[in-house]
Amino acid sequence: MTMESTSSAGVIAQFQKYVIGNYTRYPVCLTRGEGSLVWDAEGRRYLDFFPGWGCNLIGHCPPRVVEAVREQVGQLIHVPNTWYTKAQGELAKALSERTDFGGQCFFCNSGAEANEAAIKLARLHGQPDKRYKIITTLNSFHGRTMGALSATGQPKYHAGVEPLLAGFKYVPFGDLAAVEKAIDAETIAILVEPIQGEGGINVPPDDYLPGLRRLADERGLLLMFDEVQAGMGRTGKWYAHQHWHVQPDVVTLAKALAGGVAAGAMIARPAIAEKLKPGTHAATFGGNPIACRAALATIETIESEGLLERASWLEGQFRARLVALQSRTPLIREVRAKGSMIGIELSSPGAPVVQKCLERGLLVNCTHHTVIRLLPALNLPEDLLEEGCAILEDAIVNYPQ
Ligand SMILES: Cc1ncc(COP(=O)(O)O)c(C=O)c1O
Repeated sequence: MTMESTSSAGVIAQFQKYVIGNYTRYPVCLTRGEGSLVWDAEGRRYLDFFPGWGCNLIGHCPPRVVEAVREQVGQLIHVPNTWYTKAQGELAKALSERTDFGGQCFFCNSGAEANEAAIKLARLHGQPDKRYKIITTLNSFHGRTMGALSATGQPKYHAGVEPLLAGFKYVPFGDLAAVEKAIDAETIAILVEPIQGEGGINVPPDDYLPGLRRLADERGLLLMFDEVQAGMGRTGKWYAHQHWHVQPDVVTLAKALAGGVAAGAMIARPAIAEKLKPGTHAATFGGNPIACRAALATIETIESEGLLERASWLEGQFRARLVALQSRTPLIREVRAKGSMIGIELSSPGAPVVQKCLERGLLVNCTHHTVIRLLPALNLPEDLLEEGCAILEDAIVNYPQ
């Protein structure tokens, strides 16, 4: 095997021939990362306000994670779930202890897989009385596998691959009356993101999650929170729903769970989790020792560096700057933020802002056509925050007419 080229152009040429073109990619080949910075094959430095699509919550190559993974690969890379490993047990304990409901964990490798597990668990739970329907929300995002995709309330992602999995009803996010109306005799669960991420950083009204809990209790439904994007401390609590003092029955995690290493988890109340008996569900790589050690090192980093507290500080810094900017330009419709989940809704498409930022060495994302989405690392240093905000502000103020 030869490495034919290390220039960005050489790598891109290889992709054009050998990699399926299902992603829109920028013409940049990244080779190295450290904290909130990444470098490309030509040595150009970029400041990353959207590290790893939300997976690098504690920055690129976090030292504790690097160390834990290095140590683990020399000991044991993979064993299937027919055996016990210390790391998986320790991670399950760490995640469970950080819930308020003493959940038990199932491990997988991605957010979609975690949601697939939740969908199956809900169906198994509802099986005795033939209940299988799940209420989800419009503008939600739960993943690309057929079950998670069917749960996703965005027709644009369904186009061309129907028929979907049966049994999902979509209601507007934040609307309790709509949920109540959608419940019927076959409904078994409600699945929502506590804060919608891909849908544009939508923070619900304060009575929403408590209201969902009340409805779920009254109607005997499972309340399932997809915390794939909002969880693992991003909003200043381990689980975003904890801001509203609500206890769900099921939580799903992925993205930031293992500091950038692929990992996913579903956490469920023990009385419900017991429905996943041997043979009902599995993931070959799920809970492998590398991912579990990386996740444990991630939790240790967040705790020892006070990063939960720093999430609120980051929110304050970004909010203050962006609200001040809003008063200078009608382009900004609304600023929405919870911890390091930040959305800037524009009155025009966001793509030109993303492009301008990229040209000036800042990586940001646009979701829902008009929302600039930032998911900065919790340990983003103050000088880089300043540097990035100055570039972003300039790109917004000088929006191409
Ligand atoms: C809330 C939420 N759930 C699920 C997913 C799917 O995760 P994955 O891409 O790891 O399958 C995402 C991905 O963006 C997400 O934001």
